[in-house]
Amino acid sequence: MAANKEFFYRKLHSLLGVIPIGIFLIQHLVVNHFATKGPEAFNEASRFMGNLPFRYALEIFIIFLPILSHAIYGLYIAFTAKNNVNNYGYFRNWMFLLQRISGVVTLIFISWHVWETRIQAALGAEVNYEMMANILHSPAMLVFYIIGILSTVFHFANGLWSFGISWGLTVTPRSQRISTYVTLGIFVALAFVGVRAVLAFV
Ligand code: HEM
Repeated sequence: MAANKEFFYRKLHSLLGVIPIGIFLIQHLVVNHFATKGPEAFNEASRFMGNLPFRYALEIFIIFLPILSHAIYGLYIAFTAKNNVNNYGYFRNWMFLLQRISGVVTLIFISWHVWETRIQAALGAEVNYEMMANILHSPAMLVFYIIGILSTVFHFANGLWSFGISWGLTVTPRSQRISTYVTLGIFVALAFVGVRAVLAFV
């Protein structure tokens, strides 16, 4: 019974990482990328997102609760999991460890980022190009954001690799090798979009 419960939580944790959190991550990076077209383009994209119908329900059920539950169970996994030293090769062992480290770094980054933006908006500040430009004016913050984005994007892309195994999509060694290249491509593409957007505020 306990094993069944654990199995269910694992599956739910895995699914939430992709749907909805991963999809939200891609959408968020794409909207931010409008900053490369100038302040007005970014503000318009951001206003559009902010004026979506059922905004609070979307924020709570598609973003906040999924990330919170994935993060809580993720911390539990990260600090209790045994290393699979004998089950995978050298490279996969590193990826396994980096998945856990990037989860913790991503949690720190997301918490700070939400505090600086969404919570300040709830307290009356306006989230716009100028706000992000002010934040990223500090070199320390710029570095923090770049590390945070790379960590999040790595965590998502590498997570997609293990998601393929968790859900039986990549069973053979060959499909897992192909999946390594596909997820590496996803990492490079999203890292490019994310970092380019951040640099557009500087
Ligand atoms: C934007 C935020 C995040 C996204 C898009 C995301 C995405 C994913 C994905 C797709 C997986 C793979 C699921 C699988 O192996 O089947 C995963 C796994 C994992 N996530 Fe996240 N995640 C995010 C935030 C976090 C946070 C904040 C933590 C907190 C520590 C975390 C901890 C973990 C851990 C430990 C695993 C490995 C699970 C395992 O190997 O069984 N994640 N994540």
